[in-house]
Amino acid sequence: MKRLLKNFFKKATILIFRLKGKVSLKVGKNTMLYRCDLSNPYGYLNSIEIGNNSSLKNCRFNLFEGGNKIIIGDNVLIKGMTFWIEDSNNIIKIGDRTTSENHVQVAACEGKKIEIGADCMLSHDIYFRTTDSHSIVDNNGKRINPADNIKIGNHVWIGMQCLIFKGVEIPDDCIIGARSIVTKHKFDKNSLILGINAKMIKQDINWIRKRI
Ligand SMILES: CC(C)(COP(=O)(O)OP(=O)(O)OC[C@H]1O[C@@H](n2cnc3c(N)ncnc32)[C@H](O)[C@@H]1OP(=O)(O)O)[C@@H](O)C(=O)NCCC(=O)NCCS
Repeated sequence: MKRLLKNFFKKATILIFRLKGKVSLKVGKNTMLYRCDLSNPYGYLNSIEIGNNSSLKNCRFNLFEGGNKIIIGDNVLIKGMTFWIEDSNNIIKIGDRTTSENHVQVAACEGKKIEIGADCMLSHDIYFRTTDSHSIVDNNGKRINPADNIKIGNHVWIGMQCLIFKGVEIPDDCIIGARSIVTKHKFDKNSLILGINAKMIKQDINWIRKRI
């Protein structure tokens, strides 16, 4: 009975939110979002699509203005992530098998894309943001800090308390050390990247989840 009711409410929720035919939140198979915040003051969710065997437990919703999308792959485990969307046509994409600990904020604003690849491991208290949220201008009033996309490759481990800013691209198989501030620089794959104004400090390395 409990299961029937649960399924009923899940289906009802999907129907209620499938308003405009656009998928705002698409979740793959065997994925779990736990205590995530998908609510913000700037819009509402116009549809959700959830794959088999996936669940959104204790999550808050009320997103988004049209054109914004969150796409989450299969076998993903995310705890306590805040999805912050401002303006329209932003995309947040999280690849298969990626995991995330608590208090990670993913802020996609000004029509930009944040892409986190497959099999990434995000520690806790990490911020990704495509914009500085306010303008820095030159003497002619021209903005010099435009928003930009963020792209994290496959199999990237991001340590605790990192800030990942506009325009950052991290190639596959990298590690970002704890408390790093990563801005737009060129990084090679298989690197250890760290520090405030993060730089590559080791190359030709890799990582595995298991302690050996
Ligand atoms: C980066 C890290 C993984 C260590 O990698 P490592 O290959 O063992 O690196 P080392 O300890 O040899 O450090 C190399 C250099 O970087 C420095 N360093 C290491 N971590 C650093 C960090 N987060 N910020 C700044 N410098 C750092 C070291 O002091 C050392 O500097 P030196 O050569 O001048 O002495 C580790 O320091 C780290 O950040 N761990 C946190 C991981 C985490 O967040 N886990 C949570 C669970 S997911």
